[in-house]
Amino acid sequence: MQTLVLIKPDGVKRNLVGEIIARCEQKGYTIADMKLVEPSRELLAKHYAEHEGKPFYEPLMEFMLSGPVVAIKLEGERVVEGFRSLAGATDPTVAAPGTIRGDLSRDWGTKVIQNLVHGSDSEETAKRELEIWF
Ligand code: RTP
Ligand code: MG
Repeated sequence: MQTLVLIKPDGVKRNLVGEIIARCEQKGYTIADMKLVEPSRELLAKHYAEHEGKPFYEPLMEFMLSGPVVAIKLEGERVVEGFRSLAGATDPTVAAPGTIRGDLSRDWGTKVIQNLVHGSDSEETAKRELEIWF
């Protein structure tokens, strides 16, 4: 099984790429493919189609366009569920300590939540998102 992990622009800017990859590897998952990307608005519109029209959509697009992103094809049994668990809750203020978001991020007072990583939320989504990014 595979999932799409994105290290968002805040993670790249804060030099947390190694730390985030280490957590995935220490858990036992394998990197099947990986690249540094400067995504286009078109690619992000496909990726975030489900959020179109929501109040945070435009700030989210601006944030995701603010710098390079690391896209990772992560592999392992039940990795979709497993990486969501490693990432923690969407809001880093309340994400549990021990998770990527809980340990390494917080509320910076920005228009949109900056929470370091994205992880596909189902097997079907993972398949769709991996086709967009790889
Ligand atoms: P992701 O898709 O990035 O793995 O995060 P998620 O499933 O935990 O959260 P989702 O609901 O899919 O939202 C996607 C991203 O949009 C930003 N967001 N901001 N109220 C807000 O300000 C808000 N809600 C969502 C976050 O960056 C979130 O990860
Ligand atoms: Mg999501």
